[in-house]
Amino acid sequence: MLFFIDTANISEIKEIAEWGILDGVTTNPSLIAKEGRDLKEVIKEITTIVDGPISAEVISLASKEMIEEAKELAEIHKNVIIKIPMTEEGLKACKILTQMGIKTNVTLVFSAAQALLAAKAGATYVSPFLGRLDDIGHEGMGLIREIVTIFALHNISTKILSASIRHSMHVIEAAKAGSDVATVPYAVFKQMLKHPLTNNGIDKFLKDWEMANKE
Ligand code: E4P
Repeated sequence: MLFFIDTANISEIKEIAEWGILDGVTTNPSLIAKEGRDLKEVIKEITTIVDGPISAEVISLASKEMIEEAKELAEIHKNVIIKIPMTEEGLKACKILTQMGIKTNVTLVFSAAQALLAAKAGATYVSPFLGRLDDIGHEGMGLIREIVTIFALHNISTKILSASIRHSMHVIEAAKAGSDVATVPYAVFKQMLKHPLTNNGIDKFLKDWEMANKE
């Protein structure tokens, strides 16, 4: 399973990229707004840090405008993936961008039916939002399993990008379900890395080493 980081914060991206485990980046308008910077500038900077798919989301709601925005974003770098909302207009834009050879990530997917439509429109990725489904009392992971089953049965090449991840168990369960990608927030990467027994083990090894070398 590939790991993307779900942030527009440059220092977070740099830090996790340095671990050597990062395959790509996803951003969204809320994440860009949090940084208080220009979308294109941020995306351009990210392309210099990570050599992998980088999702940049369009703001327009009409397909024609989405396509114009997408063309400008795609010009930034070959790794830019255009994130499009799961709407009628989004589907139209997805189909046309696919025909133009521009890769897409259909976002805000909350049902298998939506994922099927996005795939049919040629989406490179679909982003089902786990955490936001959990928030309203639905089992987000059930949706990932359902999409994985359907795409496998029908040989659908659209990649499943598990999004809205809130904790490390989401990542593990998405991996077990067969999700192609997990886009993981910075704090969750930190959570995945840590285990108290690892720290205890290092402390004990070092103490034993010091004791042996004192004698
Ligand atoms: C996906 O690409 C989105 O940026 C993201 O996962 C949304 O997650 P949230 O529900 O934590 O905002």
